[in-house]
Amino acid sequence: MSTVWGTSDVDAAATRGVALRTSPGDVVTPLARDRAQELGVAITSADALDRPPSSAPSVSSATTDRSSSTSGSGATAGIRRNGSPQRAPSPATPLPPGSVGSPGTGGPVRSMRPPSPALFRRGAPLPGGLGSGPSRTGRAVVVGAGHVGMIAGMRLADADVFGEVVLVDIDEGRAAGIALDLQHTAPLSDFATCVRGVGSVEDAGPADYVVITAGRPRQPGMSRADLAGTNAEIVGDLAWRVAATSPHAVIVVVTNPLDEMTQHAWTSSGFPSSRVLGMAGVLDTARFQALIALDGGVRAPAVDAIALGSHGEEMVIPLSRATHDGRSLDALVSPGRLNAAVDRARGSGAEVVGLLKTGSAFMAPGTSAARMVLAMVRDSDEVMSAAVLADGSYGIRDVYLGLPVRLGRSGLREIVTIPLTPEELAALREAGERIRRRLTAVPEAS
Ligand code: LAC
Repeated sequence: MSTVWGTSDVDAAATRGVALRTSPGDVVTPLARDRAQELGVAITSADALDRPPSSAPSVSSATTDRSSSTSGSGATAGIRRNGSPQRAPSPATPLPPGSVGSPGTGGPVRSMRPPSPALFRRGAPLPGGLGSGPSRTGRAVVVGAGHVGMIAGMRLADADVFGEVVLVDIDEGRAAGIALDLQHTAPLSDFATCVRGVGSVEDAGPADYVVITAGRPRQPGMSRADLAGTNAEIVGDLAWRVAATSPHAVIVVVTNPLDEMTQHAWTSSGFPSSRVLGMAGVLDTARFQALIALDGGVRAPAVDAIALGSHGEEMVIPLSRATHDGRSLDALVSPGRLNAAVDRARGSGAEVVGLLKTGSAFMAPGTSAARMVLAMVRDSDEVMSAAVLADGSYGIRDVYLGLPVRLGRSGLREIVTIPLTPEELAALREAGERIRRRLTAVPEAS
C-alpha cells in the first residue's frame, strides 16, 4: 500500500535530523515537498521493507489538558467542549460511528473517502477514486452544526472542490445526521465531496480551512455585543484546539460579536493574523447589494459595493465607491433611499432576528462564510471585505475590523487600499477605535 507523506512527517524527520525515506509508489504532498526544501530535509526513496516502523506518517498530535479546565461550561453552547484530554486522530483512528463514508455506510461514498487524513494537507492531490472530474483536495471543517454551519457546509460541499467537508457539533448525532442528509444531495447537486459529521474538532482531523460558527446566537432585543463574554470563552477554546489539531489551517470566524471574536480567536490560536479572518463584510455587502437591487429593480450582482468597518453599528458602506453597471447608485435610487438602504443593511441582522423570534439569520451568513473559504481555495483575485488585523492601512493598526482584502490559499494575501472620502475614512477609523474599546470587555486569551 502506498503511503502519503505530509508536512508533519517532514517536521518529524527534521527534528530527528534524518532524511524522509519513501518507497516506490508513495505520495509526498506538494506542501511536504515545500516544507522539506524549507527545512533542508532530503527526500530519499528506499525499499519499503527497510523503512523503520517509527517513520510511518502521522498527523500532528495535540495532547493537552487545557480544554479540560473548561469542561462543561459550554455544554449548551452548541459546540463540543468535552473534558477529556484532547488528541488528534492518528491515521489509524476509525471513523466515528455514523460518519458518512465509515465502514457500514458502504457504497460509492465509502470508496470516495481517501485513505489517510494526511491526504488532506493543503495542496495534496487525492489519488484516484474520484472519477475523471476535477481533483478535489483538502478538508474544510465547519464547527457548529447550527443553521449557519449547516448552510456553510452545504455551500462548501456543493462547490465540489474539497475532498471532505466535516461538520462538528457537541451534538454529534445532529452533525452526523446533517452530514448524511447533505451527502444524499450529492447526485442532485452534482458533487463528489465526502461529508462527515463528528463531535469534536479533534475527530474532524487536520483541516485546511476551519469555519467557526459555534456560539450563542442573538435573541430579539440583544445586541451582538451582549454575546461577548459567553462567546469569547467558546471561541477562545475552539481556536486553541483548532490550532493544535490543524496547525496550518486558516480560521474563518462567524461567531458574534464578530470583530471582537475574530481578534480573540487570533490571540487564542497563536496563528499569524493572515490565517485568522472574520466573516461579516461579505454578508453586509451582500445585504446592501440585495436591498439596492430590490429598490432599483436590478440584478443584485450588478450592484458593486463594499461594506467595511464593524459588523454592527459602525458598519461603513462607502457610497462614493458604490455603483451599478459602472454608474453611481444615485442614478438608480434617490440619495434618501440610498441612505435608508445603508441603515437597513446595518440593521438587517436584527431585522431577521426580530422576524424569526428565535435564533438569527443563517442563509446569507452561511453562504457568506463559504464564499470566503471558496475565494481562498480557488486563489481568487476578488476584492472582498473581511475582518482582518489592521496593519496601518487607512491609518488603523492592531485591531480587527472589516477592510477590503484579497484572499489566497493561505488566508489574507493583502489589504487593499481603496480611495475613500474624508468622511468615510473618519467613519472607518472611528469603527476601529470603538471595536478597540469593546475589546477591553473580552476576556484575555489564556
Ligand atoms: C447577522 C449575524 C450573522 O448579521 O451577525 O445576521
